[in-house]
Amino acid sequence: MSDNHNTTDHAEDHSGPIKTPKQLLLAIVYSFVVPVFGIIGLTYVVGTHFKPVAGAVDPTKSIEQRIAKIGTVQIKDANGPLKSGEDVFKAQCIACHGTGAAGSPKYQDKAAWGARIGKGYAALLTSALKGKGNMGAQGGGDFDDVEVGRAVVFMANAGGAKFAVPDRPAAPAAK
Ligand code: HEC
Repeated sequence: MSDNHNTTDHAEDHSGPIKTPKQLLLAIVYSFVVPVFGIIGLTYVVGTHFKPVAGAVDPTKSIEQRIAKIGTVQIKDANGPLKSGEDVFKAQCIACHGTGAAGSPKYQDKAAWGARIGKGYAALLTSALKGKGNMGAQGGGDFDDVEVGRAVVFMANAGGAKFAVPDRPAAPAAK
């Protein structure tokens, strides 16, 4: 009797959690479906969180952007009329030089400009184009270099200099 009991227990131990064909079917489905979703999840993580290494094709850029030459040249209207020194001064330089703000030589202050004028126009132009001390390149503006030169002359001449007003070099075709 006790033997019989043991045999029954044994048989139950080996039957496992799957007891009906429906459970078997479910087990099979899950054993395929769950890994598939796991793979989809991993693909998503890799796709969104890992950036492509330098030089790799960036899928967020259009083909035009990808095949474009590196370094483009922005062409300003090279033949358009140039602003006068006074225009540039009033548009940009006056912000500091109008009052002598930030330690700048004040407009029409001959003492402040005198020493600087002595350095010559080329040195002053270089300072204005590249920036100096508290002054950014082009005084923080975005002008044609000749326009900045004219503004330098405008201010320097008001400070006692007698620099000639610069113009853009004549086009080669005009020779
Ligand atoms: C943000 C304020 C600011 C603006 C705007 C500004 N400047 Fe200046 N500028 C200065 C300061 C400050 C100095 C003195 C720099 C120094 O000597 O350290 C200076 C100096 C100069 C000098 C003398 C440079 C030298 O070598 O002694 C020239 C020329 C000049 N500015 C031209 C210009 C022109 C042209 C503009 C407009 C396009 C302009 N600045 C706009 C602040 C300004």
